[in-house]
Amino acid sequence: MSLLPVGVLGTGRYAPEKVLTNHDLEQMVETNDEWIVTRTGIRERRIASDQEASSDLAFHASEIALKNAGITAEDLDLIIVATITPDNFFPSTACTLQTKLNARKAAAFDLSAACSGFIYGLANASNFVASGIYKYVLVVGAECLSKITDYTDRNTCILFGDGAGAVVIGQVPEGRGFKSFVLGADGSGGELLHLAGGGSRCPSTLDTVTEGKHYIYMAGREVFKFAVRIMGGAAEEALSKAGLDKSDIDLLIPHQANRRIIESAMERLDLPEEKCMINLHKYGNVSAASIPIALAEAVEEGRVREGDCLVLVGFGGGLTWGASVIIW
Ligand code: ACO
Repeated sequence: MSLLPVGVLGTGRYAPEKVLTNHDLEQMVETNDEWIVTRTGIRERRIASDQEASSDLAFHASEIALKNAGITAEDLDLIIVATITPDNFFPSTACTLQTKLNARKAAAFDLSAACSGFIYGLANASNFVASGIYKYVLVVGAECLSKITDYTDRNTCILFGDGAGAVVIGQVPEGRGFKSFVLGADGSGGELLHLAGGGSRCPSTLDTVTEGKHYIYMAGREVFKFAVRIMGGAAEEALSKAGLDKSDIDLLIPHQANRRIIESAMERLDLPEEKCMINLHKYGNVSAASIPIALAEAVEEGRVREGDCLVLVGFGGGLTWGASVIIW
């Protein structure tokens, strides 16, 4: 079976209106703007309202992606939502989104790979289209991390934000589109970044809530070391699988967790700052939504031109990682 060339037909993004600045956080925990900016690069993040859930953010981003792709929701064959903050355990957020969009013929499922989830989603979507099984797939990264963040824990609450990014995947002209994927996991590091309560291991009770087990736990320094090691390596592996070199990169779109982690990847790839998309100062870490929001913003800003070589790379809970090379 010959494979069809597959790429991104349209992008979209959405961030909730409410802005939480470093100065706001100074009133909530013992921290300060200077510490947060120096250690992370983050200045503010967006926070969903009490009424908003991940599918609501996903809906807005998806409508824009569909419009930019020049198709309607009824054309979609499949919806994949990458998220660690689904509206509910079930039904899936993808099913909820399918109804909101009125994408009647689309199959739908959620994908859990934390901050790497969007790249895992792209790899899935690409295979469905390349094999001719589906024509149009919507891949969304959508998160409401504020809903699982402990705003008394200064180690984590300064990092996370809410938002969604979406892309429509379909056939592209020969020579363009996805050139490679690298997906990886190391479950032995699962404890470093997890949410303990509410699952079948530790169902929610009054005690689990009192103990804060419904909040993100993160061993920051260990995750930092893992991220620095994996980001550059995964990007290099994706380039080599595509038969390309780091000197071919026109734009790196990394997961937006920490500016120092991104800088270490830039150093390893010999990339000047203008070849790297950084927007974490505005949104913080939005897990699976970080990369698609950064991609959509780069497209809007005219930083992505036809024929450009883009490298997407991310890491996250699981532990997981992923990278992809796209010729735009
Ligand atoms: N304000 C002020 N001081 C703080 C804060 C804060 N918000 N947070 C921690 N500190 C203090 C610590 O208590 C510590 O003090 P001590 O030395 O007296 O113990 C000191 O600052 C240094 O703390 P470190 O943890 O060593 O700081 P570090 O430079 O490692 O930065 C950070 C912490 C920003 C969390 C960093 O480790 C990091 O970015 N890690 C990776 C996080 C990440 O990428 N997570 C991905 C999650 S994605 C997902 O899947 C959801």
